[in-house]
Amino acid sequence: MASLQSIKTTGDRIEIINQLLLPHTTEFIPIDTIEQAHDAIKSMKIRGAPAIASLAALAVSSHLSKALQTTPPPDFLASTDALKTHVEPILDYLYTARPTAVNLGVATRRLSKTLHSSIESGKNARDVAQHLIAEGKAIDGEDVARNKAMAKWGGDWLLKRVGDAADKVKVMTVCNTGSLATSGYGTALGLITYLHEIGKLERAFFTQSTPYHQGSRLTALELQTLQIPSTMLCDSMVGSLFQHNNIAGIAVGADRIAKNGDTANKVGTYNAAVLAARHKIPFIVVAPISTVDLDIPDGSHIPIEHRPPLEACLVRGALYPFSTNANGVKEQATVMVTPEGLEGIYNPSFDVTPAELITAIVTEKGVAVKVDGSNVFDLSSIV
Ligand code: MRU
Repeated sequence: MASLQSIKTTGDRIEIINQLLLPHTTEFIPIDTIEQAHDAIKSMKIRGAPAIASLAALAVSSHLSKALQTTPPPDFLASTDALKTHVEPILDYLYTARPTAVNLGVATRRLSKTLHSSIESGKNARDVAQHLIAEGKAIDGEDVARNKAMAKWGGDWLLKRVGDAADKVKVMTVCNTGSLATSGYGTALGLITYLHEIGKLERAFFTQSTPYHQGSRLTALELQTLQIPSTMLCDSMVGSLFQHNNIAGIAVGADRIAKNGDTANKVGTYNAAVLAARHKIPFIVVAPISTVDLDIPDGSHIPIEHRPPLEACLVRGALYPFSTNANGVKEQATVMVTPEGLEGIYNPSFDVTPAELITAIVTEKGVAVKVDGSNVFDLSSIV
């Protein structure tokens, strides 16, 4: 079965699946401008650390490519100074769309570096723009291969850790880290997909991941599409799951990994890690090298996004029993599950799992485990 794709490109045209409408409505929306890219990321029409970085990079590529084909050319292509003055604010603006996932900043910084090095090498404005277009596409294009690499590293590591005793394993995950959250295949969900592909996965378990329901809306759909046996659980049921099932490992993605291995991921990940430690279940973080932020020593420096309080009061989905509109599309609804006017709502989008609770961190380069007796990771072997 073909996996779901969060971003589709045809030449300079970019379309994304509006993830706010999944799983019942598959609507592709065009991203024609930098502002639309920023809005799509901020409003979570597209989400997941690698996917938002890819969209930002592709939006810059498309913007510049269209400019190169415009007659007469826009003023900002008249000189490298003009181009720099035009592109730098765009990169700064895209960077502000969401704060926690470091990948977005890595992508905009990489484009900024390309801009500067290209100008310094003596290229003219049009050639610098071409260079930026290629770099933006490369940021998106590199994602799938590295996801497959880390999925294999992590999957093989888990099987080795569990030993030959287990024919097939049960693995739990949090949030959505599959093809919708990346440019394809996924990170933690990639590891689960890999185990399924090699016949070693008994069942995937995934939390609903409230309040945005990335698990019940997106991971559920991805696993169903890939025909991977799976079971959903409410976030509050993780302890019960661990008490009553032989879970071989927990695989999660990451939005930012500090130098010591402390990891920010979807809120609820920390709870799962505490319970995994209690039950001695390996807890594996799977993320590309671009998610590792060596500039911060530990998780206390990770900026944590707090989403608007209202978002924690609302549940969106299809009306049930299903009813369809004139176009045969299931009617969508947003319902409030709290009393109107409720004040005092705590709504962080991410939490930080201390390195102490993480068994392994996997990137496309390999697997890092803690040095015996230490509570921190040496990530130099995997970045
Ligand atoms: O708020 P979201 O949906 O963007 O949060 C996504 C996550 O926390 C993912 O686990 C993380 O970005 C890794 S995606 C491969």
